[in-house]
Amino acid sequence: MGKLDDQIKVLEFKDLGDERGNLVVVEGGMDIPFEIRRIFYIYGSDDEVVRGQHANLRSEFVMINVCGTSKVKVDNGEESRIIELNRPRMGLYLKNNVWKDMYDFSEDSILLVLSSEHYDEHEYIRDYQEFLKLRDNEEA
Ligand code: TYD
Repeated sequence: MGKLDDQIKVLEFKDLGDERGNLVVVEGGMDIPFEIRRIFYIYGSDDEVVRGQHANLRSEFVMINVCGTSKVKVDNGEESRIIELNRPRMGLYLKNNVWKDMYDFSEDSILLVLSSEHYDEHEYIRDYQEFLKLRDNEEA
């Protein structure tokens, strides 16, 4: 497992807007490093809930707060970092095998998530100790 710097990346999308308003385009394989197989979005969460709390064996993600703000804590078992998603043009790319917690959602938060994979519960690791064990096995 690599360093966190190689596993996450903050992306800045172009704004193709004009006097009519903003327009942000995210094309799979071009603006982000994977083809998009799934999108989902989270809203109606607040500053008391913690979502995510899992890692994925295969899925890569890009998270975008298209409205409002939230925080994402990313953790590879060795290092962790907190990133605030606070602009519609900002994307957070996460490679597979990164543990993530999403929290501190503003009231107006709409967190859009793009994923490289269709949903498959079997590739979700929801137990942090198991995540650490898998990581150690990979390194061994
Ligand atoms: P969950 O993984 O808890 O969401 P989050 O990562 O935002 O905290 O998912 C909640 C429920 O929705 C859970 O039963 C799995 C289901 N789900 C799908 O069926 N497809 C999906 O793409 C996602 C993200 C979740």
